[in-house]
Amino acid sequence: MHEGKTYVVTGAASGIGAETVKTLKAQGAHVIGVDRNPAGGVDQFFQADLSDPQSIDALVEALPSGLNGLANIAGVPPTAPAAVVLKVNLYGLQRLTLRLLPKLADGASIANLASLAGFGWPNAVEQCKAALALSLEDDIDAFVAEHALEGAEGGRSYFLSKEALVVWTMQNRWSWRDRGINMNCVSPGPVDTPILGDFIETLGARAEEDMKVMDRPGTPQDVAPVVSFALSDHAKWFRGTNLMVDGGMSSHILSGIHGL
Ligand SMILES: NC(=O)c1ccc[n+]([C@@H]2O[C@H](COP(=O)([O-])OP(=O)(O)OC[C@H]3O[C@@H](n4cnc5c(N)ncnc54)[C@H](O)[C@@H]3O)[C@@H](O)[C@H]2O)c1
Repeated sequence: MHEGKTYVVTGAASGIGAETVKTLKAQGAHVIGVDRNPAGGVDQFFQADLSDPQSIDALVEALPSGLNGLANIAGVPPTAPAAVVLKVNLYGLQRLTLRLLPKLADGASIANLASLAGFGWPNAVEQCKAALALSLEDDIDAFVAEHALEGAEGGRSYFLSKEALVVWTMQNRWSWRDRGINMNCVSPGPVDTPILGDFIETLGARAEEDMKVMDRPGTPQDVAPVVSFALSDHAKWFRGTNLMVDGGMSSHILSGIHGL
């Protein structure tokens, strides 16, 4: 499916990113991994801190041109400091994506790992707009303080980072249409990776309730093929959308909201 294609995968050292590398490689792609930690199984690896503008810019400089896609998978859980959550999950991702655009080939695809945590964006539009008015070089600590995000109930910084990512992806549905470049989100429910425990810790009773209603948490193997699809030529008419891969959780939530 991906013969002759070259993709950049962030978060390549662990969990969903590592599985995406495996999947893309098995489907014939050349894969460039990016992570703060060393990643195995990739064709090329670049170490970078995606919360740091200088590190992102050096990465963009070092990456080759003619890339067929970017999978933005690196992320941190709600147990990390709120500013770090926003920097890695939202602002660093945006900076890498926007700066890498000139090195993407026409017809390339961008897949952003959001989350079921971003599903509630329609209830947080104003906060998403406020978050999206900033970039990695702005005072994110001041934003965190203004919105009382540090240690906020239920991992609010994480939810906001993913809500804003879903919104930003939607807003950019046609931004690069003239070059045939599309961007979409992939939103998993709870997935069994090293950070699942952090989610359960932050969400407390709510996570326990989710786990009871689900038959099982997802696995990286449930999610990686969806990322691969989002990067592929089969998904070219998906633009700015959010692919839910969540064992039925978003349908369950919607059914509850609408009394179905
Ligand atoms: N596991 C879940 O339940 C779940 C559910 C929904 C969405 N997600 C999202 O999926 C993505 C992957 O998470 P995962 O579950 O595979 O977690 P993981 O911890 O296994 O992988 C995350 C990777 O991101 C890298 N990373 C973190 N901060 C970085 C930084 N500053 N610079 C460079 N790399 C950095 C880590 O080193 C790690 O390799 C994340 O965006 C996460 O928010 C996870």
